[in-house]
Amino acid sequence: MLISNRCLYSCMWIFIVSSATFMSVAIIGNLKYPDANIINGNAKKVVIKKDVTNFIKDVAIDTKYQKPFFPDVEQDNVKDLQRNDLPQSAYDIKKIPKETEVKQDMKEDMKETLVKSDDEITVEEEIRSNQDQVQETLKGMSSSEREYYKMRTERVNPFDYEFLVKGENICEPHDPPYLVLLCLTRFYDIENREAIRKTWGSVATTRSWPLVNSKIPTVKIVFLFGGPVDTKVKQSILEDESARYGDIVMADFVDSYVNLTYKVMMGLKWVNTYCPQAKYIVKVDQDMFLHVINLIRYLEGIDDPDPGIVLGYVNARARVLRSGKWGVNFDLYPPTSYPNYTNGNTYVISGKASVKMLKAAEHMPYVFIEDAFLTGIVRTVVGLKIIDHQGFARWNDPPPRICSFHNPFRIAATNTDDTLKESLWKALKYRNLKNCYDAVKRHRVA
Ligand SMILES: *[C@@H]1O[C@H](CO)[C@@H](O)[C@H](O)[C@H]1NC(C)=O
Ligand SMILES: *[C@@H]1O[C@H](CO)[C@@H](O)[C@H](O)[C@H]1NC(C)=O
Repeated sequence: MLISNRCLYSCMWIFIVSSATFMSVAIIGNLKYPDANIINGNAKKVVIKKDVTNFIKDVAIDTKYQKPFFPDVEQDNVKDLQRNDLPQSAYDIKKIPKETEVKQDMKEDMKETLVKSDDEITVEEEIRSNQDQVQETLKGMSSSEREYYKMRTERVNPFDYEFLVKGENICEPHDPPYLVLLCLTRFYDIENREAIRKTWGSVATTRSWPLVNSKIPTVKIVFLFGGPVDTKVKQSILEDESARYGDIVMADFVDSYVNLTYKVMMGLKWVNTYCPQAKYIVKVDQDMFLHVINLIRYLEGIDDPDPGIVLGYVNARARVLRSGKWGVNFDLYPPTSYPNYTNGNTYVISGKASVKMLKAAEHMPYVFIEDAFLTGIVRTVVGLKIIDHQGFARWNDPPPRICSFHNPFRIAATNTDDTLKESLWKALKYRNLKNCYDAVKRHRVA
């Protein structure tokens, strides 16, 4: 789900200001580590953890450092505290495989994808015949709901728009990417794209990451655009940016809020057409910070059975709104709730599923809520397994703290502006949480 940034920021500020007010009161009152579990701030209830030691122990790579060392660490937001309850297995992180292993994997994938995309009818048949997984995802639903999730025989929602800026050379057949990052940014936010290219997106060009010495698999970043009604000017500007950076793709549909689903369908179509060997596809919004290496390490360790997986922060049993900004017409989607789906700010889809996802999306009625449609409805039709990972971000998460990504479980954070992206990026070069916070304390990072 999406919310206007303006509202998010103002809500955040109310929260920060009221938290800061409380902190000063607490310090003046010599209340260093409050015992109370719940404190009423002006805007929100804030849970304060009694013992910060556990928190630090849990998030730190270096577990030796167990004393509170930075005055605001104790006031971690609720979400981080909840992340303390993660299963231990979440921390079992595999090493990044040697390049030869990755390449071998990719050759296998490449064969499979090419065969499947050859014959359109086969794709439909495959989706329809994949009933085991589909039945699994339909468990607990009424018969009318089950009926709804049958793929339509007609292409009720065709995506026939042409690519105007093709980005046909972004992926190279001899070096197929492990990850393709499909990035959604506002056209005029050139600085935002610069910030992404300089920070977490730089792995696509430098193939390096702060403090990572092992070989990093190939990653590609692609910024997706539609057009206005008359696309000529926009197209020439984007062609320019494409010539400079080689990471732009544009198609000729009208880029608008209601057309957001088309934008991601366009991304799937682009992967199918110009990057079919990609092992995983990541959809990521412009206000995100993505720890690409933590993501790769996680993906290396999971089971990815056919027809593929969807990974992200899962919204369970979300109710369908019928009016307002997120209102969806009953005729297009009658059920009262969405199937479990991942938050749209960042999610991952197996590359091998992209052909089926696009096919199924074209055969289902258009729902403009892109994450609910693609990772909920379409995922259910195709029968993809969904993996909930709380290291991704909720739609309404506050901005991360500077050293948040020293938790190897943390994959994505929302609400990061360009400056925060740069601070987070700099913070990654400190080897452990203590060093990072010491640096923050000395104002070296920010
Ligand atoms: C969505 O895109 C199509 C194709 O360009 C266009 O005809 C339509 O007006 C767009 N819808 C909105 C609401 O922008
Ligand atoms: C949706 O997610 C919730 C919480 O993770 C889970 O309990 C429920 O079984 C899921 N529903 C389906 C249909 O998988």
